[in-house]
Amino acid sequence: MDFNYLSATTGEQKTVRAAHQIYEHLIGMWAPAVIEAAHDLGVFSWLANRSGTVEEMSAELQTEQRATRVLLGGLLAYGVIERSELDGEVRYSLPSDFQQALLPGGTFSLVGKMLHDRHVAWAGWRNLGDAVRHGTRDQSGNDRTNQISETNYEDLTSGINFWAPPIVDVLSAALAETGWKKDEVVSVLDVGCGTGLYSQLLLERFPTWKAEGIDAPRIIRLATAQAERLGVGSRFTGTVRDFWKDGWGETVDLILFANIFHLQTPDSVQKLMRSAADVLAPDGLICIADQIVVDEARPVTAQDRFAMLFAASMLATGGGDAYTLSAYDQWLAEAGLERVAVLEAPMHRLLLIGHAGRHPLPA
Ligand SMILES: C[S@@+](CC[C@H](N)C(=O)[O-])C[C@H]1O[C@@H](n2cnc3c(N)ncnc32)[C@H](O)[C@@H]1O
Repeated sequence: MDFNYLSATTGEQKTVRAAHQIYEHLIGMWAPAVIEAAHDLGVFSWLANRSGTVEEMSAELQTEQRATRVLLGGLLAYGVIERSELDGEVRYSLPSDFQQALLPGGTFSLVGKMLHDRHVAWAGWRNLGDAVRHGTRDQSGNDRTNQISETNYEDLTSGINFWAPPIVDVLSAALAETGWKKDEVVSVLDVGCGTGLYSQLLLERFPTWKAEGIDAPRIIRLATAQAERLGVGSRFTGTVRDFWKDGWGETVDLILFANIFHLQTPDSVQKLMRSAADVLAPDGLICIADQIVVDEARPVTAQDRFAMLFAASMLATGGGDAYTLSAYDQWLAEAGLERVAVLEAPMHRLLLIGHAGRHPLPA
């Protein structure tokens, strides 16, 4: 068929164009399959700090040669590895920035994300249709929060550390610009802190600040170790605390909720907001960093599109949502709180919040 993809005019051409467009989405699963298979087989570790041929790699990793070449072709196609040819010999290598992201142990390693996909997300996505049919309610008919095990959170929280730096940049710049509590000793409460990177990066930027991260025991171990590695261990306290059952402690100046609200139901969001309002200093700030939808009707920005797809991933893995800005505003008002700013950051929006009627940011 003589067919120009971009200038389709007939009904058939438009259908074929639509099929192309949808097919591109349907093959989205190839990317994690290729990258995660390479991880499982040890391809990335093998390629660390060296270049090698298919023959060398498949001999050492005990993989089939032709299939290994196919897998490396996939990694090349996704721009993960590089290929060079000298005197007819083809060698593959892993650029150093990709090594940091693909090998275990580094602060921004995605290995935890891959393990989470392997253990939780793939199965969840297969059953998305069931979740849509039945919703995510428990046996008593209540909405379920998104609950995964502590071990699964160990994988996930380290695998999403890479989100933190640009978000903390945006937050720090906004706070520095307004002069909020400039040079004061600011206390930060990092709720469901995961590895604690958000508050720890703030401690790096604001040397007079101190932070407490609260989370489950295995996660707090990760956070405490990371605070030491980053050199902020003396100002970061990791506390094992269940934010539903245990008290929230003393009054604090800044409360962080990074990637917490998308796991919640509307009821549990409200409960968390009321707990935060209770311990927030009169001129204190709450920062929510999350997938927040501004315009559900017209998802024109990449930010809104990501948030809406993120909502589907929450549905697939058991509950939660990417809530709209107007829903947040309503919940805040009910807790006696008020939004004072919305900031854009990669894959997130940040809401800065104070007590209602007390604009905490200097004009
Ligand atoms: C999606 S992770 C976000 C972690 C971190 N804030 C970040 O953005 O990287 C959610 C975190 O909430 C923690 N969490 C869930 N339920 C909790 C509870 N009831 N009390 C304390 N922490 C909880 C989990 O263990 C996990 O570390």
